[in-house]
Amino acid sequence: MPTGKKPAEGTEKRSGRRSSLTVRDNRTGGEYEIPIERGAIRALDLRQIKASETDFGLLSYDPSFQNTAACQSGITFIDGDAGLLRYRGYPIEELAGRKSYLEVAYLLIYGRLPGRTELANWLHNITYHTMVHENVKKFMDGFHHDAHPMGMVVSTLAALSTFYPEAKQIHDSEIRQRQIHRLVGKIPTIASFAYRHSLGMSYIYPDNDLSYTANFLAMMYRPSWTARYDSDPVLSKALDTMFVLHADHEQNCSTSTMRTVGSSLADPYVASAAAAAALYGPLHGGANEEVVRMLQEIGTKDKVPQLIRQVKAGKRRLMGFGHRIYKNYDPRARLIKEAAESVFAITGKNKLIDLALALEKVALSDDYFIKRRLYPNVDFYSGIIYQAMGFPTDIFPVLFAIPRMSGWLAHWQEMLMDQEQKITRPRQIYTGPRERHVPEEAT
Ligand code: CMC
Repeated sequence: MPTGKKPAEGTEKRSGRRSSLTVRDNRTGGEYEIPIERGAIRALDLRQIKASETDFGLLSYDPSFQNTAACQSGITFIDGDAGLLRYRGYPIEELAGRKSYLEVAYLLIYGRLPGRTELANWLHNITYHTMVHENVKKFMDGFHHDAHPMGMVVSTLAALSTFYPEAKQIHDSEIRQRQIHRLVGKIPTIASFAYRHSLGMSYIYPDNDLSYTANFLAMMYRPSWTARYDSDPVLSKALDTMFVLHADHEQNCSTSTMRTVGSSLADPYVASAAAAAALYGPLHGGANEEVVRMLQEIGTKDKVPQLIRQVKAGKRRLMGFGHRIYKNYDPRARLIKEAAESVFAITGKNKLIDLALALEKVALSDDYFIKRRLYPNVDFYSGIIYQAMGFPTDIFPVLFAIPRMSGWLAHWQEMLMDQEQKITRPRQIYTGPRERHVPEEAT
C-alpha cells in the first residue's frame, strides 16, 4: 500500500509550508500528499487512492457540481460572499452605463475593451450579419401561433446549423469568428420574429443604421415596414444596460451546457441552442417571467405575508431570490433597481415595483431568508423593467438569451483553446442491480 508519497512536481511552497493536502485512507492506512493549485485539488489525483490493487480508485461525488471547478477561466469573476462581479477584471458597476453592450460583448469574447478601429470593425461585422436567410422566416412560420417565443428561439438557433455547414470547422479561427458575428448579430432578429409571429404580424427586417438595442426595439414594435418607429433613446439605453448586466455569469447552467455540448466539437449553433434550452428553465433564465407572474398573482401588499408563509412552509419558492454563488445582494439586482428609475421616468411607474420592494423588505428581515442567505437576484427586478417597457411576459427569458449569447460564445471559444479540455464526461456511482439474468422462457 502506498504511504508517505512525495508531493507531485509543481507543488507550491508558501511560508515554508507545502501547498498540498495530506490524505490518510483509513481503509488501508495509506497516506497521500495531493498538491493544491489555485485553491483546488485535481480530482484525478484521488484516483491513486485505492482500497486494493484491483480497486478503480477514489472518485469525488458532487451532484449538481456544487463544489467542483470544471475549467479554468479568465472571463468572469464572482465573489458571492462580497457580492462582486467583474468581466475580464472590470467591475460590473463601471461597465454598466459606461460601455455599450456590444463593447462588453467584445470584451468578454476577446479579453480586452475594443480600440476605436476594433470597435468599428466589430460593429460592422455584427450589423452585417443581422439579417436571416428567407428560409429561416419560413421555418419560423411553421410554429403554432401561441408557441412560447423561447421555444421558437431555441429551435431556430439549432436550425441555423443547417444553414451554415462551414460552422462545423470549429478549429478554424476565421470561420469561428464568422459564426460569432452571426450569432450575436442574428439573435435579436430571431427574437423579434418569434414575438411578431405570436401576434401574427409581418416580420420587420433589421435597420443597420440603428444601435443594437434601438434596432431590436424597432424590429419588435414597428407597426409595419413602411411605418416609422423611433424608440425612446432612454429606453434603448436602459435595455443596453440590462444587456450588459446579463452578458455573462461564469459557469451557470446554460454556460456549462454550452461548454458541454461544445466539448463534443458540435457547431456553435446547436451548442447555443442547447444553452438557450438550459436558460429556459424557471430556476435559471425563466425566473424573470415567474417573478412577474408571482407578483401579479399576489396583487397587493397585504398578500405578502401569506406568500412568505407558503415559501417558508416549502410549498413554493420565492422566485427571483437565492443564488448558488451569491450569498449577498446580487450586484446586478442593485444596478437594475437603479436603472428602473430612468425607465419609469419615461414609461410611468410599474405598480409591481412597490409590491416587489415590500416583498424584498419582508424577506430580508425574515429569519428563514437570513439563515439561508437568500437575497434578490438579477431576475427579481428585471421583469418589472421589461414589463414597463412594454415587453410581454413570455419574451423575458428571450431578453436574457440575447445578451447571454456573447457570454456563451466567449466560454465556447475559451474551452476550444484550452489544451486541458476534453469531451465532457462526468463519472457516476452506479447504484442499480449488480448483475441479473433474463429467465429462460417457459416452454
Ligand atoms: N425561495 C425559498 N427558499 C429558497 C429559495 C427561494 N427562492 N432559494 C433557495 N431556497 C432555500 C432552499 O429551500 C434550501 O433550503 P433548505 O436548506 O432548508 O433545504 C436553501 O435555500 C438552499 O437552496 P438550494 O436549492 O440548495 O440552492 P441552489 O444553489 O441549489 O439553488 C437557485 C439556487 C437559484 C436555483 C434557488 O435559489 C432558486 O430556486 N431560486 C428561485 C429561482 C430563481 O430566482 N432563479 C434565478 C437565479 S439568478 C439568474 C440565473 O443566473 O439564472
